[in-house]
Amino acid sequence: PKVTYVDHTGHATTVEVDAGENVMRGALYNGVEGITGECGGGLSCATCHCYVDADWTAAVGGPSSQAEEELLESAASEVKPSSRLSCQMIVTEALDGLVVHLPEHQF
Ligand code: FES
Repeated sequence: PKVTYVDHTGHATTVEVDAGENVMRGALYNGVEGITGECGGGLSCATCHCYVDADWTAAVGGPSSQAEEELLESAASEVKPSSRLSCQMIVTEALDGLVVHLPEHQF
């Protein structure tokens, strides 16, 4: 599946990410800047914060756990209703074409 990452300046990068992989690692493995993922997906850093594109919020849904919801509050950039921690978003064929927007700061 393809995932498009749009940075805070509007620059979009589209990459192929394996189904089953998470959106944070999809960025890291492909050299997409704007997602840090400092804890490696361990749900303890909030440096993988992203905003799900409005066209995808229904398909993606909200935070996948209460732990994600709570950790999101410590994200460095503004937390919005579309905010997610990208390490908690698993890429699937159903999400082919997913677009996420990256905050200006992860720290
Ligand atoms: Fe640390 Fe997602 S990579 S919470």
